[in-house]
Amino acid sequence: MRKSIIAGNWKLNKTCKEAVELVTELNRDLSETTDVDVVVCPPFTALRDISDVLVDSKIGLGAQNLYWEDSGAFTGEISAPMIKDAGAQYVIIGHSERRQFFGETDETVNKKIRAALAHDLTPIVCVGEMLEDREAGKTEDVIKTQFSGSFAGLSAEEMEKLVIAYEPVWAIGTGKTATKEQAQEVHQLIRQLLTAAHGESTAESIRIQYGGSVKPDNIAELIAQPDIDGALVGGASLKADSFTQIVKNSLGVAK
Ligand code: PGA
Repeated sequence: MRKSIIAGNWKLNKTCKEAVELVTELNRDLSETTDVDVVVCPPFTALRDISDVLVDSKIGLGAQNLYWEDSGAFTGEISAPMIKDAGAQYVIIGHSERRQFFGETDETVNKKIRAALAHDLTPIVCVGEMLEDREAGKTEDVIKTQFSGSFAGLSAEEMEKLVIAYEPVWAIGTGKTATKEQAQEVHQLIRQLLTAAHGESTAESIRIQYGGSVKPDNIAELIAQPDIDGALVGGASLKADSFTQIVKNSLGVAK
């Protein structure tokens, strides 16, 4: 059985003070929760302060991006060793907003995954189709291309260390969740691609999150799907009550 993982992607939100307030509430409300891995991904600037709050906490900490070089003349970038040093254990890689607005490609995603793994950070790697892809019946092709490019050359052992997030771009921040059937179909496809590339035992061990307008009232039906192992939550992770409720509503759901 794969342990579920629910991560909050705070995106470009929260000052250090606001971030500490939110995580302090989450830490209080979720301190007893051990059946699911809970992770928060604040902006870089709040990582250090939050890691101080989360000392001895079961809640994990992640960054939202990284650069693949460790150091050097790369103005404005943040590296895996810096993220580690700030206290994080996870890093989101290849989010669709980074692919859309910041020129991220499957090739850069691949380099970033390697850098994260080299520094013992768990990558949460995002894939997902745009609305026009889905409408043109190209969802499967897009996922296959992103899969083969993003994970090119990675061994089964390396793949077992990462988390995949399927996020249909048309469902992000739109209030339009994929139906549980639509989500399960793509999760199953990703599981099949993993099996073909690395064998069944590796494929069965890798967690695949769903992301895109996850809310307290839809998490249970999503997580009940056989290949959905958690959620990457944007908007609803910005308030303690909705994020806590998502985590709680994911517990004890029969597959
Ligand atoms: P959303 O974002 O929950 O606000 O749709 C999800 C994400 O982009 O990770």
